[in-house]
Amino acid sequence: MLRGLFVTGTDTGVGKTVVASALLHRYRGGLRVCYWKPIQTGIEQDDDTAEAVRLGECQPHEVLEHAVRLPRPLSPHLAAKLCGTSLSVEAVLDPLRSDRRKALWIVEGAGGVLVPINECEMMADMMGSLGWPIVVVARSSLGTINHTLLTLEAVRHRSLWVLGVVMVGDKNPDNREAIERYGRVTVLGEMPFFDPLTPDQVKRWALTELDPDYSLQAGL
Ligand SMILES: Nc1ncnc2c1ncn2[C@@H]1O[C@H](COP(=O)(O)OP(=O)(O)OP(=O)(O)O)[C@@H](O)[C@H]1O
Ligand SMILES: [Mg+2]
Repeated sequence: MLRGLFVTGTDTGVGKTVVASALLHRYRGGLRVCYWKPIQTGIEQDDDTAEAVRLGECQPHEVLEHAVRLPRPLSPHLAAKLCGTSLSVEAVLDPLRSDRRKALWIVEGAGGVLVPINECEMMADMMGSLGWPIVVVARSSLGTINHTLLTLEAVRHRSLWVLGVVMVGDKNPDNREAIERYGRVTVLGEMPFFDPLTPDQVKRWALTELDPDYSLQAGL
């Protein structure tokens, strides 16, 4: 049986790839881990798989390369349309479903929960099809309470279970507390901005600060 976590975010560019890399460090060892980015748009300038390999220090067997890769940094529905093609959740998930590796999959979405994949499916439908626990990546700064609560509501509306939220940026205890209280959710970690952003920094943070209570155990 496939098992894994789905990493979504309150927005594009919020830190999903960096957090996914941290999750690889956090759960590797006790478990075999694998990273997958099922839909990558803007492949000319963005390659999340390469970045997760760098920051997560992945071996080749820890990555699934087979995925949809489209030019132009746009929503998947539009990037596909401009290429004269269309995507469907089940077709996109096919490489994962036919992969025989026994591992904990860390799957990174494109953008946020309600990003369209085609005319009638959204990233949320991919999350629903997998049915895996969700990790929500959020900014720590002003505006995050609303964005995070909206994301949690959309996820739960589809009966999906949220493992927790990871906040990225300067620590903001008030925002953390509000997200935990109003969102009825655990903040699994507060990741600072690393300068420079190196595998060592991400690893050290992951092993000391990310999901210290090992919530994952309850979620799988
Ligand atoms: N903790 C961090 N420290 C330093 N830089 C960071 C950190 N988190 C994210 N960044 C930087 O912010 C930018 C966006 O981060 P990231 O690529 O992880 O976002 P994303 O949510 O995965 O975006 P996308 O929607 O394109 O997949 C990148 O340039 C990344 O290097
Ligand atoms: Mg990313």
